[in-house]
Amino acid sequence: MNARTIVTLVLVGLLTVLFVGAAQSQDDMVQLKADAFVTHTRPAAVFVHDEHNEKAGVEDCNACHHVYEDGKFMADDDSAGTACSECHMLKANGRQPGLMVAYHKQCKSCHEAEGKGPMACGQCHVK
Ligand code: HEC
Ligand code: HEC
Ligand code: HEC
Ligand code: HEC
Repeated sequence: MNARTIVTLVLVGLLTVLFVGAAQSQDDMVQLKADAFVTHTRPAAVFVHDEHNEKAGVEDCNACHHVYEDGKFMADDDSAGTACSECHMLKANGRQPGLMVAYHKQCKSCHEAEGKGPMACGQCHVK
């Protein structure tokens, strides 16, 4: 092995570690703090992804990770793994609510419909 090969191997190794380290999974998600909000005025929202969905009995990923085409909900498609902020900007855009409203509306409308789950600020934004 020459020096150049070794340097290349070390770089590939480092990149692999960085990439795997950065790849996120929902399994260990316990709270939501979207980087897209430049400053946070509230504590991060409690959301233990897998446990929440199990307790709530939500099986379809697209109940939250939706996909719309021409304003139509795509029942067989989902956007799991894509952050809400990839599509929802801070400001609303047509029928697409701004990021904070998107979260609030999605979380609270289901809690309201189910008659279960937190509705008050401090129950989600727990200090
Ligand atoms: C059902 C849970 C839930 C409830 C209830 C709730 N929020 Fe949130 N809120 C969230 C989530 C989820 C986010 C997005 C994640 C984050 O904080 O970055 C968020 C984001 C925010 C943000 C933007 C980020 C920040 O920290 O500045 C503000 C402001 C906010 N909420 C205020 C409130 C206020 C005020 C209330 C009560 C009127 C409230 N929320 C009730 C879940 C909730
Ligand atoms: C009750 C709503 C809800 C349901 C149902 C749901 N998720 Fe999520 N999931 C979220 C939210 C909210 C986030 C955070 C999105 C963000 O960062 O903007 C998230 C994040 C993720 C992430 C990214 C993890 C990370 O750390 O960034 C993956 C992957 C994911 N979900 C997969 C799934 C899969 C697969 C399903 C179906 C088995 C599913 N989700 C069902 C709400 C939900
Ligand atoms: C791939 C892009 C995309 C992603 C990712 C996405 N959305 Fe949306 N969302 C849209 C579009 C487009 C609309 C407008 C739909 C219409 O035309 O009525 C919308 C509408 C909404 C609405 C209003 C309609 C409704 O369903 O009540 C809420 C609330 C919402 N999104 C919340 C979220 C949340 C929370 C996340 C992350 C878990 C998320 N969205 C992820 C594209 C996206
Ligand atoms: C599709 C319906 C649905 C959506 C969407 C939803 N929830 Fe829930 N949530 C529930 C139900 C049902 C419960 C009550 C579960 C039980 O019986 O304990 C719950 C309970 C909770 C609890 C109490 C602790 C727990 O994990 O049981 C928190 C915190 C919570 N939700 C946060 C959120 C946040 C934050 C969002 C938005 C990112 C959200 N939920 C979106 C249905 C939903």
